[in-house]
Amino acid sequence: PQEHTLALIKPAAAKKHKDDIMQKVKEAGFTISKIKEEALTHEMATQFYKDHKGKPFFEHLVTCMTEGPSVVMILTKENAVEEWRQLMGPTDPEVAKVTSPESIRAQFAQDILSNAVHGSSNREHALESIECVFGEIDID
Ligand code: CMP
Repeated sequence: PQEHTLALIKPAAAKKHKDDIMQKVKEAGFTISKIKEEALTHEMATQFYKDHKGKPFFEHLVTCMTEGPSVVMILTKENAVEEWRQLMGPTDPEVAKVTSPESIRAQFAQDILSNAVHGSSNREHALESIECVFGEIDID
């Protein structure tokens, strides 16, 4: 069965590495069911990362996510949530370079905060984030 996930190219990477990252998305066999370029509002970023509220880096994270346009996509594939996480690689690019050198974060992240891409951590979050960014839509 096909699954959907929300994938996002963060502002700094969207500026510098959009084409290279899109190339890797396509090579990995994802269908891009929806795509738009949009700067997240403070409110959207807060909702998006509500599970991280209270962490020391939370405000920095929201700032980094709202500083310019992101590329926001719904990616569709069998096992899309997990496969997109694999393609992103570990959160910290220094770890990614060691364990997953072919991953997007190993290749295009600046640091742990500005780590090139985001992806939903599970199917429930995927549905929530998709609605947060695209509203209530019929994906298929
Ligand atoms: P992301 O996949 O967007 O999900 C939450 C983000 O929080 C994560 O990528 C990182 O950018 C950021 N993050 C997680 N842990 C840390 C940390 N220890 N220091 C700074 N930023 C972090």
